[in-house]
Amino acid sequence: MTDRYVVIGNPVAHSQSPRIHALFAAATAQDMAYATLPAPLDGFAATVRDFVAGGGRGANVTVPFKEEAFRIATRLSDRAQAAGAVNTLTFSGNGILGDNTDGAGLVRDLKSNLGTDISGKRVLLLGAGGAARGVILPLLGERPSQLLIANRTADKALALARDFDGCEGCGLEALDGRPFDLIINATSAGLTGGVSPRLTFRYAPDALAYDMIYGRETDFLRQATAAGARTADGLGMLVEQAAEAFLVWRGIRPETAPVLAELRGA
Ligand code: ATR
Repeated sequence: MTDRYVVIGNPVAHSQSPRIHALFAAATAQDMAYATLPAPLDGFAATVRDFVAGGGRGANVTVPFKEEAFRIATRLSDRAQAAGAVNTLTFSGNGILGDNTDGAGLVRDLKSNLGTDISGKRVLLLGAGGAARGVILPLLGERPSQLLIANRTADKALALARDFDGCEGCGLEALDGRPFDLIINATSAGLTGGVSPRLTFRYAPDALAYDMIYGRETDFLRQATAAGARTADGLGMLVEQAAEAFLVWRGIRPETAPVLAELRGA
């Protein structure tokens, strides 16, 4: 019987995940189906329950349910525990395993697709919400020389940094003139159409500015381009976090380059 997977969110109709997983499944000859599954805002747990009762094998979880997915999991991976959020659920007789592949996806995109080594680099992470929290542990695992979390609301960056060994937090105004090799935008400013405050840090030579948002040129990326920095959007992270989820479920790591090329319309 074909194994069934879904991505659960609200809204979820425009998710690229079914297309990505269909390409992975075809390339690795896996007998699986992957669809979108919308859940009412107050009905995430019930939606999961019904899907499991119908024989579902796993689910990706997207906005706004990642924290609730964390709570319904009966077991958590270390990276999900650190993220405080779950984007990958696996259903088995033993219960519900919650994992988080977002940070691993980001690191893999940086290293494999963009050729950016994180080790020894000065890394600036902008934002202190769920998206930022989810990538801190995997970034620290790469041993940057510095990981600074900067946020519009400084207190939130300080509080977030306290949860991890090896990083610091500050407000955006404290960045004045400080140089960074890798700047990662994990704020939701680009999604909400918000303008990033003028950022006053310095791009080191050959710096990479990375926005986790994909499919649009955000204000953050425009500022980076104007400053002469290299830029990347989050489409590679989307494909890599999917590949990591595929690996969790199927035990096979699919090739991502052809899928990324297809999504970019190459
Ligand atoms: P997510 O789960 O996507 O991280 P979130 O938890 O609501 O969403 O966090 C949004 C993040 O984007 C926060 O760090 C927020 O800054 P504040 O903590 O100061 O609110 C940041 N953010 C949103 N709009 C922004 C803007 N226009 N400029 C700078 N930061 C912004």
